[in-house]
Amino acid sequence: MKLLEGKVALVTGAVGGIGTAIVRDFLAEGAKVILMDIKAEAVEAAVAKLQAEGFEVAGAAADIRDAAAVKSAVDAARAKLGPISIVVANANTGGSTTTMDKSTPDVFRTEVADNVGGQFNTIYAAIDDLKALGGSITVVGSVNGLATFGQPGYSAAKSALVSLVRTMATEYGPHNIRANMIAPGTVRTPAWDSRLARKPDVMDGLKRWYPLGRVASPEDIAKPITFLASEGAAFISGAIIPVDGGLMAGNHQMAKELTLEG
Ligand SMILES: NC(=O)c1ccc[n+]([C@@H]2O[C@H](COP(=O)([O-])OP(=O)(O)OC[C@H]3O[C@@H](n4cnc5c(N)ncnc54)[C@H](O)[C@@H]3O)[C@@H](O)[C@H]2O)c1
Repeated sequence: MKLLEGKVALVTGAVGGIGTAIVRDFLAEGAKVILMDIKAEAVEAAVAKLQAEGFEVAGAAADIRDAAAVKSAVDAARAKLGPISIVVANANTGGSTTTMDKSTPDVFRTEVADNVGGQFNTIYAAIDDLKALGGSITVVGSVNGLATFGQPGYSAAKSALVSLVRTMATEYGPHNIRANMIAPGTVRTPAWDSRLARKPDVMDGLKRWYPLGRVASPEDIAKPITFLASEGAAFISGAIIPVDGGLMAGNHQMAKELTLEG
C-alpha cells in the first residue's frame, strides 16, 4: 500500500525546485496532485508530461497573492480530481532584500504581507474540503524563521508562518486536520540561480556551516513532507521541524573554537 493512495493534494510552487520534488514524491506514493504555481506555461507543460506518464494531475495556475484567483483555480482543479485532503503551502512570493539597511517600509511590508497572505489564501481555498475529510497542512517555512540569517522581510514572514501553523493545529485539530511546518536549510534549487551566477562557489562556502557537511537536495525536503501527509504522522500536529542537516542544533564551527579542537 502506498503512503498517500487515492488522496488529493494541493501543492503550491509546484514547478519550482522543492515543489517539483514534492509533486514527484506524492505521485510515487499514490496521490493525485493539483499543481499550483504562478508560471502558467510551466504548469501546463508539467501537467502534460505527468499525464503522459499516467499520473492523475491537474494544473492550477494562479498567483497565491490573489485570493479570488487561487479559489477559482482550486475549485476548477478539485472538480477534476476530487476533494482535497492534503495541502502543501510551499510557494514563496519573493523577498530577497538582504539587510535592514536595504529594506524600506514599502518593501518590508510587501515581503511580509505577500508571503504570509499567500500561504493563507492557499489554505483558505481548500479548508472546507479538509474540514469535511480530515487532512494535513504542511507549510514550508525556513530556518530563517527560526534564527537570523539575513533577509529581514522574508524571515519575518517565515516566523509569522510558525504562528499560523500553531493556530491552525489548535483550531483545526477537532476537524482531524493536522498542521505542521518543515523549515529547510539551504537547498540547491532555481531560487539560488542568481546568487550562483554572482558567486559560483557559494554552496561550497555554505556547506561548511552544516554539521552534515552539505546543503540539501529538493528530495531531502520532499520526503519528510510526504511523511507528514501520511498516516504514519497521524498524531503529529503543530510541529515545527527543521530539515537542515543539523544547522539549528548549534554552531559546530564555534564549538571547535571554544574547545580548541580542530
Ligand atoms: N531553496 C532554499 O535554499 C530554501 C531554503 C529554505 C526555505 N525554502 C523555501 O522552500 C520553498 C520553495 O522554494 P524553492 O527553493 O523550491 O524555490 P523555487 O524558486 O525553485 O520555486 C518557487 C516556486 O514558487 C513559484 N511562485 C513564486 N511566486 C508565486 C506566487 N506569487 N504565486 C504562485 N507561485 C509562485 C515560482 O514560480 C516557483 O515555481 C519556499 O517557501 C522557500 O522559502 C527554500
